[in-house]
Amino acid sequence: MIEVLKREKKCTNEEEMIKLYNEATKDYSFWSKDLNMHFGYYIPFKTSLLKRDSMLNQMNEQLFSLLEVANKEKHIIDLGCGIGGTMKYGINNHKKLRITGCTIVPFQVKYGNNFINNDQAKIENIDYKHTQFSDNKFDGAMAIESFCHSGCSKEALEEAYRVLKPNSKFVMADAFVKRDYKEMNIFSKKVHRGLSKCWSLERLGNINRVKEDMENIGFKNVKVKNIWYRVAPSVLHVPFAISGFILRKIINNEELKEESIHNMKGSFYALLTSLCMQDFGYYIVSAEKNK
Ligand SMILES: C[S@@+](CC[C@H](N)C(=O)[O-])C[C@H]1O[C@@H](n2cnc3c(N)ncnc32)[C@H](O)[C@@H]1O
Repeated sequence: MIEVLKREKKCTNEEEMIKLYNEATKDYSFWSKDLNMHFGYYIPFKTSLLKRDSMLNQMNEQLFSLLEVANKEKHIIDLGCGIGGTMKYGINNHKKLRITGCTIVPFQVKYGNNFINNDQAKIENIDYKHTQFSDNKFDGAMAIESFCHSGCSKEALEEAYRVLKPNSKFVMADAFVKRDYKEMNIFSKKVHRGLSKCWSLERLGNINRVKEDMENIGFKNVKVKNIWYRVAPSVLHVPFAISGFILRKIINNEELKEESIHNMKGSFYALLTSLCMQDFGYYIVSAEKNK
């Protein structure tokens, strides 16, 4: 009975997430002209504090650079690809690269493939926890702010490991908790609950547990780097982006959908995580498949 209840709850979370992204994905065009659905990576004098997309694209650049795709004929998989912002950046900057993207949101498949419009990259409606691709297929795998939806589950990590060729790399950029919910203070618990409700993030992964899981699965050279100070400048864009978004809706006399409101509230809770650094962090994790 408990298992059935757990399964039903899991299903509800996933359904809520699909509903959120089906309805609110378009709002991201306000966040990023290049349709990046993630936060950015700030490098002084290289990216601009005022140009959000320069930071968001730098996050893409960081991961592609870890995957060592430059001038190589690699086929990589983007696990939880949104509407292909990262994929488009990848193929525009690396002419020999091929990318397969996975999302479970039907709207993102259609909209994203239209946006990319290039044979080098294709989005498919596939769950990253069981992709059904053959073993050892890809030369690299990436996940940006997508494994957070499954709490960076062992299932998702095992699947990433399975589809990778031996010695190839898996990289992810995402938010994690540093300790479990029950050990957090009242404020952090409130922020965690807000993120759960608005962005279906009730299962944010614990970074220590994730590293351990990856090593147990067989990944080698698991490197974990907290990059919150690189990400913070783009998080600070949230209030301005949201104010602009609301203003445009008012001027155009457009209705604010429930999902858009949820999405905006989620962004505010993301902003609040910067006040609870003892419990939340934003990390780049990289690792290699053993053999
Ligand atoms: C915040 S968006 C990030 C999208 C993209 N990585 C980016 O940075 O632009 C989260 C993405 O994870 C995807 N996602 C969540 N759970 C998934 C699952 N089980 N299988 C495939 N995609 C999933 C969502 O569909 C969405 O596209």
